[in-house]
Amino acid sequence: MRVRLAILISGRGRNLRALIAAVQDGRIDAEIAAVISNCRNAEGLAFARKAGLVTEVLSHAEFVDRRAFDTALAERLRRYAPDIVALAGFMRVLGEDFVAEFRGRMLNIHPSLLPKYAGLHTHRRALAAGDAEHGATVHFVTSEVDGGAPVIQGRLQIQAGDDEAQLAERVMNDIELKIYPQAVAWMARGELRLIENAAIYKGQRLDRALGMDQLEEAFR
Ligand code: GRF
Repeated sequence: MRVRLAILISGRGRNLRALIAAVQDGRIDAEIAAVISNCRNAEGLAFARKAGLVTEVLSHAEFVDRRAFDTALAERLRRYAPDIVALAGFMRVLGEDFVAEFRGRMLNIHPSLLPKYAGLHTHRRALAAGDAEHGATVHFVTSEVDGGAPVIQGRLQIQAGDDEAQLAERVMNDIELKIYPQAVAWMARGELRLIENAAIYKGQRLDRALGMDQLEEAFR
């Protein structure tokens, strides 16, 4: 049976598109069971529909609180029996019960060199701090926001004159769109797992994230 991938989005969906492309050309050996958005107008949703995928909208605004939304989202996801849940620009914090249910199956991509800059406005914060480097990280999702075991991290030099938008664009194009499909591909092949709190890659416990040098040719 094929590995079932569910993708959760909130916005533009550039990471979503990269995942769809990698499934379509066979680099990710999985089927996309559903694309779920918490925002009705997410651009990524329209793209997924055009690609002929099953899509769902579950608007957080229609629930009384975070917990009710989480419960409904878990219930919806369960229907698709996902082996992998990829958060791809999904801008909601998920509660402990939700995370526990999908633990070990759920990945996120975050635009910073975690553990630096968990949370929002990462590019702005890296610039304000005068950092020399910035990047993005794929990690397993645990109940700590942006805090689960890191899998792969790409870094780049911040250039003099970089503004927030330029930096965000380079992080997206040069790093995010490469490392996320790669991480999901590893997971689909069973080469990446979470055991207790550690990421296990090809049988080895990762004490820190893999780097871009570990990208397979097809993902560079
Ligand atoms: C990306 O930078 C992702 O890392 C962050 O939100 C952004 C989403 O962009 N979590 P997109 O929806 O994939 O275009």
